[in-house]
Amino acid sequence: MRKVTLEELFVHPITQKYVGRSGIAHAIAVAEKAFDISSKANVDPDLAAKAGFLHDIGHYKWYRNGEWDYQRYKENDIHAIKGAARAHKLLVRCGEDMQNAKAIALAILLHTDSYLPEGQLQLNPLQQVVLEADEADEEPGGGHHYRKIDYQEALNRIRELDTKIDNIENLEQTS
Ligand SMILES: [Fe+2]
Repeated sequence: MRKVTLEELFVHPITQKYVGRSGIAHAIAVAEKAFDISSKANVDPDLAAKAGFLHDIGHYKWYRNGEWDYQRYKENDIHAIKGAARAHKLLVRCGEDMQNAKAIALAILLHTDSYLPEGQLQLNPLQQVVLEADEADEEPGGGHHYRKIDYQEALNRIRELDTKIDNIENLEQTS
């Protein structure tokens, strides 16, 4: 039994504010993709979908004169660090299991290495799934952050994912 659903995370004002900033459409696409590839990678589909959905929750708005300042963003961005902490706080506040909250936060922390020193990371399977799902949805010039989605459609897709995850968990319990 999951302690927190994707729907509970989706409707939370913190999520609407911060995930809304980097794009709900991208967040949902990455959650769906992470869910899809989780079974092949032998990763918990619930953790994959949650980390995929929240992976960009740490973005700051790098605007100058109403335009996204890509240069300043590149030089100063720490969205993975902020996102890991923000997602962790949100998950714990919503009642998530502490081990799950940690695993999701770490997958968010490591979904990009753009802010890290040179070197090779040994990602665990969950972290690898989230990174791959994000890359699969990226568009040139950051276009994936600007794709729009209607609130109701977004909610429907989140509910669909919740149902799929519940079905897998129910199957596992009866087998
Ligand atoms: Fe992303």
